[in-house]
Amino acid sequence: MKIYKISHLAVIATLAIGVFSCSEKSTAQSVNKVTLKEAYADKFLVGATLGASMFTTPNHPSLALAKENFSAITLDNDMKWERINPLPGKFNFEIADKFAQLGVDENIATVGHVLFWHSQTPDWVFKDDEGNLLTREALLDRMRERAKMFASRYGDRIKIWDVVNEAIEDDGSLRKSLYNQIIGDDFIEQAFIIADQEMPKDATLIYNDYGMNRVGRRDTVLAMVKGFQQKGVRIDGIGLQGHWGMVNPTAEIIDTTLTLYAATGLPLHITELDVDFLGRDNFGANVDIKKLKATPENNPYPDGNVPPEAEAKFAKRYTEIFQQFLKHHDSIDRVTFWGVTDGDSWLNSWPLEGRTNFPLLFKRDGSTKQAHDNVIALVK
Ligand code: G3I
Repeated sequence: MKIYKISHLAVIATLAIGVFSCSEKSTAQSVNKVTLKEAYADKFLVGATLGASMFTTPNHPSLALAKENFSAITLDNDMKWERINPLPGKFNFEIADKFAQLGVDENIATVGHVLFWHSQTPDWVFKDDEGNLLTREALLDRMRERAKMFASRYGDRIKIWDVVNEAIEDDGSLRKSLYNQIIGDDFIEQAFIIADQEMPKDATLIYNDYGMNRVGRRDTVLAMVKGFQQKGVRIDGIGLQGHWGMVNPTAEIIDTTLTLYAATGLPLHITELDVDFLGRDNFGANVDIKKLKATPENNPYPDGNVPPEAEAKFAKRYTEIFQQFLKHHDSIDRVTFWGVTDGDSWLNSWPLEGRTNFPLLFKRDGSTKQAHDNVIALVK
């Protein structure tokens, strides 16, 4: 009902504006509400991730919402190695080009995701023409070529880069990816050296990972950053993904985590924020999640009708998260949501296909949730 009233008022207001200025294009958002990017303008950038369909579907509603509400954008998949360069010498620049241009046209900060990640990297990257694993030097050369390619194509437009993604395990050990196996334990350092040498000097080079509050990973990242700083290896920011649950990490843990990373002196970027509304409590113990199907137990609101009390709980969770971001805003440069509306979220198909999840601040129809309003009210 509240949404109906808001959009109803918006229609009246839009019509009223139309009377005075037919050329002014207006929407429910701009007429009635302070947007996220406006509310947080003097705190940090507020971003969202865009997907390929938003660029290929004419008038995709999420694209309009992104332009209106966010001051930073990231591409979810189309700069990853397997998408942009699936085979040697074959490049798909269409989506990334449109993304970079959107940033210029709309004056929105663009984030390059991601230079080097063990996942979504095709096998050929690690192999020579005979199918043998590359030498360390050959793989470093290949990585340098990729950095050069991005710098020459987007260097004037994309100024924030996830240089390495998810290279450290929960227990703090280095992930035994092919990058690590071929290059060795200095893979992350070499990646940052390459990025420093090849990417623009005014680019922000970020290490990005999930579960950054886990003590093992946290301590390894902190030690790595300190080591880089002592050796003079350039790193410009720490990326905390923020794929969080309804309870964990708690506000207290978020507080401690942000305090510890901020002590490095590097700006913090919350790079992939969402709250897993459905969670995984209904999967049962010891099951192979990949074999599960969506059921009424693990997918209780397939029609999208979330009961008000659950919506309120979700709003409370986002409130406590943003209270922490505000507390630490001097150390935070950006908070990016992983998607625009609930319909865009990867959590509808992970960890199992076919769920209707509700992790973001905009509903599938583009209307705002109570959580959205609470987040804005915090800075009013
Ligand atoms: O595009 C194909 C489609 O043609 C095909 O029919 C369909 C069948 O499964 O797959 C589609 O590709 C999927 C793609 O998302 C687009 O929806 C891939 O299978 C799927 O693996 C891919 O998942 C992406 C995931 O990274 C891959 O690990 C998610 O969209 C993307 O949101 C997610 O993003 C990651 C960040 O890059 C790093 N941090 C974690 C985050 C969430 O997993």
